[in-house]
Amino acid sequence: MLNTSVEIAGVQFKNPVMTASGTFGSGSEYSEFVDLNTLGAVVTKGVANVPWAGNPTPRIAETYGGMINAIGLQNPGMETFCKRDIPFLKQFSTKIIVNVCGKTTEDYCQVVERLAEEPVDLLEINISCPNVKEGGIAFGQDPKAVEQITREVKKRAKQPIIMKLSPNVTDITVMAKAAEAGGADALSLINTLTGMKINVQKRCFALANKTGGLSGPAIKPVAVRMVYQVANAVKLPIIGMGGIATAEDALEFILAGATAISVGTANFNNPTATAEIVKGIEEYLIENKIDDIRELIGAVK
Ligand SMILES: Cc1cc2nc3c(=O)[nH]c(=O)nc-3n(C[C@H](O)[C@H](O)[C@H](O)COP(=O)(O)O)c2cc1C
Repeated sequence: MLNTSVEIAGVQFKNPVMTASGTFGSGSEYSEFVDLNTLGAVVTKGVANVPWAGNPTPRIAETYGGMINAIGLQNPGMETFCKRDIPFLKQFSTKIIVNVCGKTTEDYCQVVERLAEEPVDLLEINISCPNVKEGGIAFGQDPKAVEQITREVKKRAKQPIIMKLSPNVTDITVMAKAAEAGGADALSLINTLTGMKINVQKRCFALANKTGGLSGPAIKPVAVRMVYQVANAVKLPIIGMGGIATAEDALEFILAGATAISVGTANFNNPTATAEIVKGIEEYLIENKIDDIRELIGAVK
């Protein structure tokens, strides 16, 4: 019998396909396109302790093979999220991973403590957003800060914690090791790469924030390389992402060492991408007479 299920930090996922934070809302916008029951997990948009307005507009722009965004983690805050979004997601037989953001260690801890009593399977801690001045990437670019925030969050978390790493560093394995030392249960990578676009006709920045995070197929080779490096540097399971649009893309990440994968920007131009990837992975396993997807994890050395 075909096995597509994978395990991360003791949690069983029916398949390795997840949604990338911030590109799938909390699932409701996409539920008319995708049966959420078919996904391994829904990873929610970043949630903070209080509502955040996000950055001024314009805050997204298309680029070759992708897009740049500087949304700035707009979100309704944890109370609205817990009342509105968790009950919606609980209707489906998929795992719930909540992405957590904050400006200070205390902010992150407050959200983690609030979620402790909620029916959430794992927490993904975003220490890698390039579009906020405080918190976010300020934590993710300093190994001491990565280790410290991981330790503080881990102390308070009821659910296993996934630390989400930034690619905007010289050596991502240093950050991965710091998160492992701080007690992380898993890692996810990559967040967006800092970029810039200039509107030549108007002679101004395309985004009000000047810089934004580059995502989509353009970043995939960078992401695959980083997943491979991190898989060979730490023992933690990895959720790989960055430009995944097809089953073949997803399989590249798994062969490089990811236990699961997330689909982000692809959802915007193909809202059924996640479901197609689930199906495509199954077809690949059958065609290649592979009984268990776990045989593929890190199979390319
Ligand atoms: C519009 C947009 C919003 C995002 N919001 C978040 C977020 O709230 N938290 C987070 O950790 N990552 C966020 N990300 C990063 C994605 O989860 C993902 O790491 C990145 O886009 C790379 O994957 P992709 O190329 O498949 O989009 C966002 C990305 C985009 C494009």
